[in-house]
Amino acid sequence: MKSTWHRREILRLALASAGAGWLPRSSWAQPRFTSNPFALGVASGSPLADSVVLWTRLVGDLPASAITVQWEVADDDRFTRVVQRGQQQAMPELAHSVHAEVSGLAPDRWYFYRFMVGDATSATGRTRTMPAPDASPSRLRLSYASCQRWDHGYFNSYRHMLKEDLDFVFFLGDYIYEYANSANSVRVPTRGTVLTLDDYRARYALHRSEADLQAMHAACPWIVTWDDHEVQNDYAGLTAGSGTQVADFAARRAAAYQAYYEHMPLRAQALSQTRLYSEQRFGKLANIVILDDRQYRDAQVCNPNGRLGSSTLDRRSCDVWDDPKRTLLGAAQEQWLDGVLAKGDATWTIFGQQTLFGERNFRPAPDRVLWNDGWDGYSAARKRFTDSLQRHKAPNPVLLGGDVHENWVGHVKADYAKPDSAAIGIELCGTSITSRSSSYDVNAALAANPHFIFADQRKGYGVVEFTPAGLSAKLRAVEDVTKPETRIETLASFVAGAGRPRIERA
Ligand SMILES: [Fe+2]
Repeated sequence: MKSTWHRREILRLALASAGAGWLPRSSWAQPRFTSNPFALGVASGSPLADSVVLWTRLVGDLPASAITVQWEVADDDRFTRVVQRGQQQAMPELAHSVHAEVSGLAPDRWYFYRFMVGDATSATGRTRTMPAPDASPSRLRLSYASCQRWDHGYFNSYRHMLKEDLDFVFFLGDYIYEYANSANSVRVPTRGTVLTLDDYRARYALHRSEADLQAMHAACPWIVTWDDHEVQNDYAGLTAGSGTQVADFAARRAAAYQAYYEHMPLRAQALSQTRLYSEQRFGKLANIVILDDRQYRDAQVCNPNGRLGSSTLDRRSCDVWDDPKRTLLGAAQEQWLDGVLAKGDATWTIFGQQTLFGERNFRPAPDRVLWNDGWDGYSAARKRFTDSLQRHKAPNPVLLGGDVHENWVGHVKADYAKPDSAAIGIELCGTSITSRSSSYDVNAALAANPHFIFADQRKGYGVVEFTPAGLSAKLRAVEDVTKPETRIETLASFVAGAGRPRIERA
């Protein structure tokens, strides 16, 4: 295991990685490539009204020195009207990744971009900026997706997602899994269990070598957050999760976080501060809030025999279940979130977060058998969140989620401990791209949790279109993830009007 870098070194790399600026003369030398250095494709993300991050990573037989990469942004895909050019250093310390934080772009515009190094040119990517903060866009169309376990199947959903005409993709965690492989693997990932920086890098590279995923990254910007498997199953803050253990979990987590930055179109703060939570604005139509419910959380409570990871248990057997001191987001992020909600004034307040928000009781009342890893296991923190939504009258809250490998659609309750409390928002928790679901009776669970109106275990993704008047959502389900190509269908459609937290089948 490589040791964690000194913080100052991380800051230097973050600055060098994000800024164009001065380059030492030696870095101008252009290497010759024996294979395509852009084999992992291109990506863009973290869009603002005037700025977007362009990403690539050089691979192949590379020198152990910085390599200067040129980039271009144009109005057209033939690059006859280039609006900006620049250069970045792809540094070996950051796996020769490139993060060009391009600013000075026009709001609400689509652009094309590409990278050049030596005699190689990357694939062309397409990206967009957000509308100006005071603009009134007529629609926002996004897809939400999560949980793409390599050995469980092909990322064939993305071939269909390409045709959804999206403004951006929201990826809500479990982009990779750290596991070696499962029983009945559809395909076997390289290198076994992911433990070191090199292992994490290789796992991301494996994912990005799949054409469908690469094409979707090139098609529009992605806004991303992580969940547990980007590090280890069910880890919590600096407490290790379940599975293979290492002597120094903090070092493993630091390596995992670094590899995540290296492979995602993220701004430098994701490296220098390991900060993912942030706020973006889609004109007056939507405030977009991205949360991180893994990095700062307290450990799960009442695991039998003190084991690490998560458990499903009878809530009444656990004295500390509702302990108000326990946090899922951490004190700093909670406070930041309350401030974001205090000033939120767009039509929709859209949350991109990791997991199922509403209570999922696995048994009919009066038993309450709950999972201690999701929001259910952090009931006091969830109550502070719903209290904050109400106190600030957050406009039309919509919580998007993932993690549970099942679609759940329903209403956010003011207080899940009071079944007759008001609905104060809408929840759309997404299924997995490939990861298998647990085997239990989902329909019985749906009946036991009437704040939800729909639950299903098929694989795929969701598409939501927001307008000033309402939202419409489609759950898209693929037929078979064990084949590279598959059919897709719409599993269910839903509508909700702005101004009233009520979602129904269309
Ligand atoms: Fe997952």
